[in-house]
Amino acid sequence: MNSYLSLQNIVVRYGPAFAAVNGLSFQLDEGKLLCLLGPSGCGKTTTLRVIAGFLRPTSGTVAVAGKDFTRTPAHKRNMGLVFQNYALFPHLSVSENIAFGLRMRKMPGPAIEKRVREMLELVDLGNLGGRMVAQLSGGQQQRVALARALAIQPSVLLLDEPLSNLDALLRIRMRAELKRIQQQFGLTTVFVTHDQEECFAVADEVILLNAGRIEQKGTSREIFDRPANRFVAEFVGFENIFRLPDGREVAVRAEDVALEKGTFGAGIRFDGDGVRLGGVVELATRKGRGTLLLVQAGEAEFHVLTRDETVHERGEQVTLFMMQRNLILL
Ligand SMILES: Nc1ncnc2c1ncn2[C@@H]1O[C@H](COP(=O)(O)OP(=O)(O)OP(=O)(O)O)[C@@H](O)[C@H]1O
Ligand SMILES: [Mg+2]
Repeated sequence: MNSYLSLQNIVVRYGPAFAAVNGLSFQLDEGKLLCLLGPSGCGKTTTLRVIAGFLRPTSGTVAVAGKDFTRTPAHKRNMGLVFQNYALFPHLSVSENIAFGLRMRKMPGPAIEKRVREMLELVDLGNLGGRMVAQLSGGQQQRVALARALAIQPSVLLLDEPLSNLDALLRIRMRAELKRIQQQFGLTTVFVTHDQEECFAVADEVILLNAGRIEQKGTSREIFDRPANRFVAEFVGFENIFRLPDGREVAVRAEDVALEKGTFGAGIRFDGDGVRLGGVVELATRKGRGTLLLVQAGEAEFHVLTRDETVHERGEQVTLFMMQRNLILL
């Protein structure tokens, strides 16, 4: 097997009754970016800490390039880490922050200067090397943190919600930048995020964690378009989860529910092209050019997102239609 980063059966226990990570295994090929996604407390940061060597797992192994790292101390793993809050040294300048890991590794002075200059260029902070980090904007600090992590030429890059402190536009710009750098250097990267759109934009592979276990592992397309179970479907934002007359549970996105005015009658009809059912509009609010509706249909409530300008009102009788191919079997 030629996977580069390999976790086998990692368990992290805090006390006898609680495992923050509970039997986690995955393999990541060299140069690939894996997103760890999941709700608060599911074990993302704990997993990164295990990979980085800040936390010894209760059991299981971590290997890089075929070498068992489980007992290797953090400073000998050559991993670059960007923490959620960046954890920069506020009393040091930008350049000194970036040089920090190189000094620890006893790199000669001139080589450090050269590397720091390259890193400043890379993250587009060429003229700010002398600034104290306390005098930088959030986006600039984020770049310093990234430059510091990259300066040591890490074998694995670990990013814990690195963009979470940035405003929406800068966040989009920085994630593109990050992806560019990651690809340029072929960096094997584990990227923790809450943000699905961000995950979708950068990931080669995705793992969705829940309570320390993997719910689903796959490409972002697989996770977002083909959720394997109810937890994943809810997490990736499928608004509608319901049972077909034959008892099978399916998920469908609000934008994949078509709506027509007029009654269909009671009940639900499932045939070759899809599912049709009648309902009553409970709530209608404008969203973009279309309307977001809540429709009561029998026992179930459906979210529907229309894209046309048709006006809908509370109490209106409607027919909902969902195409077979948009119904995801859970
Ligand atoms: N030192 C500790 N002692 C006891 N429990 C801990 C400790 N560190 C973390 N935990 C618990 O382990 C679980 C996983 O924590 P972790 O920090 O990995 O979550 P996370 O997925 O990173 O969440 P978030 O998205 O909020 O950052 C949580 O329930 C947390 O309370
Ligand atoms: Mg965390």
